[in-house]
Amino acid sequence: MKTFPLLKLALLSASAGLAFAVALGSTSGALAQTTAEQTAAQRAAYQPVFRLDGGDMTYAFGVNERGELQQLYWGERIGANDKIAPAKSAPEWASHDSSYTNTPQEYAGWGAGLYQEPALKVTFADGVRDLVLHYVTSTKPDESSVDVVLKDISRAVTVTLHYTIDPGTGVLARSATIVNNEPKPILIEQAAAAGYSLPRGEYTLNYLTGRWAGEWTLNSEPIRPGMKVLESRRGMSGFQSNPWFAIGKDDAGEEHGETWFGALAWSGSWRIAFDKDTLDKVRITGGFNPFDFGYPLKRGEQLETPIFYTGYSHQGYGGASRLLAKFTLAHVLPQAPNPKPRPVIYNSWEATEMNVSEAGQIALAEKAASLGIDRFVMDDGWFGKRKTDHAGLGDWYVDPDKFPHGLKPLIDKVHALKMDFGLWVEPEMVNPDSDLYRKHPEWVLNFPGRPRNEQRTQMVLNLARPDVRAYVFGFLDKLLSENDISFLKWDYNRSWSEPGWDQMPPDEQKKVYVEFIRNLYSILAELRQKHPGVEIESCSSGGGRVELGILRYTDEVWPSDNTDPLDRLTQQDGFTRAYPVQIMLSWVTDSPHWLNNRATSLTYRMLVSMEGSLGIGANLNNWTAEDFSTAKRLIAAYHGVQKTITQGDLYRLISPTNGSEFTATEMVAADKSQAVFFAYVHSTNEGRGFPVLQLKGLDPAATYTLKSIEGKTAPDTPTEASGAWWMNHGIDLMLRGDFQGAAFSLDKK
Ligand code: GLA
Repeated sequence: MKTFPLLKLALLSASAGLAFAVALGSTSGALAQTTAEQTAAQRAAYQPVFRLDGGDMTYAFGVNERGELQQLYWGERIGANDKIAPAKSAPEWASHDSSYTNTPQEYAGWGAGLYQEPALKVTFADGVRDLVLHYVTSTKPDESSVDVVLKDISRAVTVTLHYTIDPGTGVLARSATIVNNEPKPILIEQAAAAGYSLPRGEYTLNYLTGRWAGEWTLNSEPIRPGMKVLESRRGMSGFQSNPWFAIGKDDAGEEHGETWFGALAWSGSWRIAFDKDTLDKVRITGGFNPFDFGYPLKRGEQLETPIFYTGYSHQGYGGASRLLAKFTLAHVLPQAPNPKPRPVIYNSWEATEMNVSEAGQIALAEKAASLGIDRFVMDDGWFGKRKTDHAGLGDWYVDPDKFPHGLKPLIDKVHALKMDFGLWVEPEMVNPDSDLYRKHPEWVLNFPGRPRNEQRTQMVLNLARPDVRAYVFGFLDKLLSENDISFLKWDYNRSWSEPGWDQMPPDEQKKVYVEFIRNLYSILAELRQKHPGVEIESCSSGGGRVELGILRYTDEVWPSDNTDPLDRLTQQDGFTRAYPVQIMLSWVTDSPHWLNNRATSLTYRMLVSMEGSLGIGANLNNWTAEDFSTAKRLIAAYHGVQKTITQGDLYRLISPTNGSEFTATEMVAADKSQAVFFAYVHSTNEGRGFPVLQLKGLDPAATYTLKSIEGKTAPDTPTEASGAWWMNHGIDLMLRGDFQGAAFSLDKK
C-alpha cells in the first residue's frame, strides 16, 4: 500500500505580480476584487494555481487568462515537484459552443454563453440575469484548506469557495458562500455546492435508488452525452435516490481501477447532475435542487450551500467505499474521530407495534436483558392518543392510559436490567387528529385555500417557522431533561407536499427548502450540546433520510423497514458502498417475514444482522429456549468482534447483486490484527460448492488463527496460517442448502 507524507496544500503562483487588489468594502474587508477595467495583460500576469494533496489524491485548479477559476486536475496523487501549468480556457467549438461553456470551471455563473449546468444562477433586481464570476483573492484558513473568492465582473455579488482536503483519505469537502452586496436584492435560482470535471474518457456511473422497503439498489450505467440527474424534490433526502455516486473509468471493478466518488451532505431537496459535454469531459454539479428553488438575498445577506464531498481511489469501488467510510467515521459523525461501537439494541416495534404498555414493555425488557442486549428502545405508541397512526403525532405527553405512572417505572426497570433506554419520536410531523393541530393548524406546510394532502394521515410541521422550531426543541428538551433517556429514534414518515410558508411574503416563501433543514440541524445540534449523553438514530420509514448532512448529528440510521435477511444482504451491499457499517442498524426479526413470507432460520437472520450494527426486533414472547440460547451465543460472539465489523475496512468478496447465489463480506481491523468474514448461500443448485474464499487486506507475513463463529470449513483447513495463505490459497467452506450462513474470525498471533 502506498503511503504519503503529510498533506500538502500549495498555492503556486505563475507570477509574483498582484497588481489589482481593491478593497471590497462593507462585508468583506480585506477581500480584493478584479474589475472590468483590468486588462487582459494584468490578468495574465497573475494566474495562481492551487493544489491540494491528501491520501492518494491530488486536486488542482487555477485562474485562467480571462480570470475564471478552472479545474486543472482531479485524480491519483502526482509527484510533489510536478509542475502544474496555469489554467488556459478551452477553445470555442465551432460557432455554437463558446469557450466559456467548454472551460471546466470550478463554479460557473450562468451567463456569457454557458450551456452546461451552472453552479450559480441569479436574477438581479433590474432583470439582468447574466453572472460571470472571476477570481478575486484567496485565503488559507489552515494547512488543509483554501478559500477562494470570486466576484461577478461588474456587480457586487461574491462567492467564496471553501476547499478542505482530508490528509488521510484525500476526501475533499467543497461548499460555497454567496453574498449579495448590490443595493437591491438578488434572487438565487440555482446554487450548487461545487462543480467537478473528469477528463475525456469512458466512465461508468454507479448510484443507489430505492423505495419504501426496497432501499439501496445499486445501478450501474455508462455515462453518455446528455444529462443524467439524481435528485430529490421532496424536501427530504429521500429513498428514490441517495445523494452518493461512484464513477469508474474504463474497466474499473471492485478492487481495481480508477474511481471517483462523491456524497452530498444535505437532508433537503438536492440534485447531482452528470453531463458529458461537447468535448467529452464529464461535469458533475451538486447542491440545492433548483426545482422550485428561489432564495432572495438582500444587501449584505448570504446563502451557504451544503458540502459536496468527493474523493478518488485507484483501488476500484471497494477502495472508494473504504475511503468514504473511513472519512465518515473520522470526520462526519457526531462522535468522530472515535465513535463508540453501537450498543446492541432491542426495539419493540415489530413485537407490539403501537400497543405498548408498562407491563408489556417490562416483559420484553426482561427477555431482552437475558440475551445480553445493551439498549432497550420503545418505539411508536407511547404518547398522546396514539392508538393507530391516525392520531397523536404532535402531542408529546406520555399516554396516561398506557403508562399511568409516566415512563419512570419502565426506565428504572430497564436500568435495573443493566440496559440503557431509548425512545421513538417523530418531531417534525402532526396528525390532524391531535391537540397540536387543533390549536395550530397554521403550523403545517401549506398553501392557503388549497388542500393539505395527508400521507399516513399526517402532515409536515413547518420547521422553518421560529414558533415551530421552538415547540419542537422545547418538547424534546423537556422529554430528555425529565427522563433518563440515552437514545432517540428520530423518525420522519412522509415526503412534503404543498410546501408553502404563508407567514412569509410571497417572494420569500421558497426559502422554506433551506430554512427547514437548517432548523432541523440546529435543533439536533442544540439537543446534543445540552444532553451530551444522548445518541440519535435517523429513521425515515426506513432509509429515507440517510446522507452526510444528517450524519453530522446522528449516530446511526435505520436503513429499511424491510428486515427480511435475504433482501437485507443486497440492501447492506448497496448501503455500505456509500456509508460505514457502523451506522447501519440491522435488526433480527421474526420468520416467516411479514413482507416476503420467507422462512429463514434464526442463525441465518442473526448472521445477516451481525454484518451491521446489531439489533433484535423480534417478538421475544414467542421465542423458544433454543432461540434464546442461539441469540445469546451469537450476541456474545458479536460483542467480541464488533469493532472490526463496524469500523474495519470492508471487502465485498462476493456481492449478492446480479442474482448471485453466494454472498461473502470481509472486514479487516485498521491495524490488520483481526478480520471477520461472513458467507451465505441463498439456495444451492446442482450441489455446487461455495467458491473458495480468498481473503483480502491481511498482513501477508503475519500468522492468523481461524475461529468459527458459526459454520464449518473443509476438514483439511488449518487453524493457523499466514495472511498470504488465507489471501492466496483461500478457505474452503462447507456451506450448502437454502439460506445458510457462516461467520469466522481471524486473529493475528
Ligand atoms: C416507521 C419506522 C418503523 C417504526 C414505525 C413506527 O415506519 O421505519 O421502524 O418506527 O415508523 O410508526
